[in-house]
Amino acid sequence: MTPDQCKKLEEAGTTAHRLGSGPNGWVERLGDVVNISYKSETALEELLAGLAEQTAASGWKPERIFTRFLPLKNADRIAPVLHSGDASLPWTLVVTEGGVRYGIDMAAGYSHGLFLDQRKNRARLRMLKPKRVLNTFAHTCSFSVVAALGGAETLSVDLSRKWLDRGRQNLLLNDIPDTGHRFLAEDTLELLPKLDPRKERFDAIILDPPTFSRGKNNRRWQVENDFEQLLNAALELAMPKCAILISTNCTKLDAASLERRARRCAKEQRLVADYVHGQSQIDFPPGHGSSTLWMMVR
Ligand SMILES: C[S@@+](CC[C@H](N)C(=O)[O-])C[C@H]1O[C@@H](n2cnc3c(N)ncnc32)[C@H](O)[C@@H]1O
Repeated sequence: MTPDQCKKLEEAGTTAHRLGSGPNGWVERLGDVVNISYKSETALEELLAGLAEQTAASGWKPERIFTRFLPLKNADRIAPVLHSGDASLPWTLVVTEGGVRYGIDMAAGYSHGLFLDQRKNRARLRMLKPKRVLNTFAHTCSFSVVAALGGAETLSVDLSRKWLDRGRQNLLLNDIPDTGHRFLAEDTLELLPKLDPRKERFDAIILDPPTFSRGKNNRRWQVENDFEQLLNAALELAMPKCAILISTNCTKLDAASLERRARRCAKEQRLVADYVHGQSQIDFPPGHGSSTLWMMVR
């Protein structure tokens, strides 16, 4: 990212974005701090050198730098460590995106809580102004926050109560009263077929599952195999004109293959829909960030 591009984001009220991306890692700005994710020590050296060049050119300097190793296996994932800066400062902070506030916790584990590649999708959801939103795999509920700011009632579902508590805090950070917002610590795949479509119907549904997961009862989820089951269950709860965000980090599923699968589900359910591929972001070069598709049910 050039200093001008960073300045434009800052002027638009965004203090959380990528600063740079390479084949072996990337650099994120999170308010006053920087978080570098890297695959090897050599990659870390290169990313630090790139950051030093960038900060020299822009005049902006991070207060602290955190680094996070990217292991080959999910089981080896660990939280970021402090690389430089004052160790006595709090590891929690607040960043903004288009003026919306989100809490970040560098000590929470592998994820600090905000997926920066979803910025344009959050903006689209906010612009759509749905009345009722189902946010599955909700994590820290960033999609629920933007939906609520547009006046929606929300249902946020995540296996982890810890993440949903962070979601509640994100709503509070934006002065959103908690009426009309529900949080369920459940397995999405088990919950969706149990919701009664006569009572629970949504104008927007967010489906951003992990590539692999172990659900309740130790049930294994794999996005490549289970995606269509998930989308079919979600379509049962869709109002006419429902906007469904389908998103994945699975490198085997690009937006075109998501669209093929979504079209198969629509055909099975005798629904007609339009398909809009997620917009690219200036801070995510091609091949970085999740593949996304909006399925707009007619
Ligand atoms: C990739 S993150 C979702 C990111 C989120 N959409 C956002 O933009 O902030 C995946 C989330 O899914 C949750 N999760 C994993 N398996 C699940 C399941 N079977 N049911 C519900 N949540 C699950 C994890 O706890 C994690 O918070």
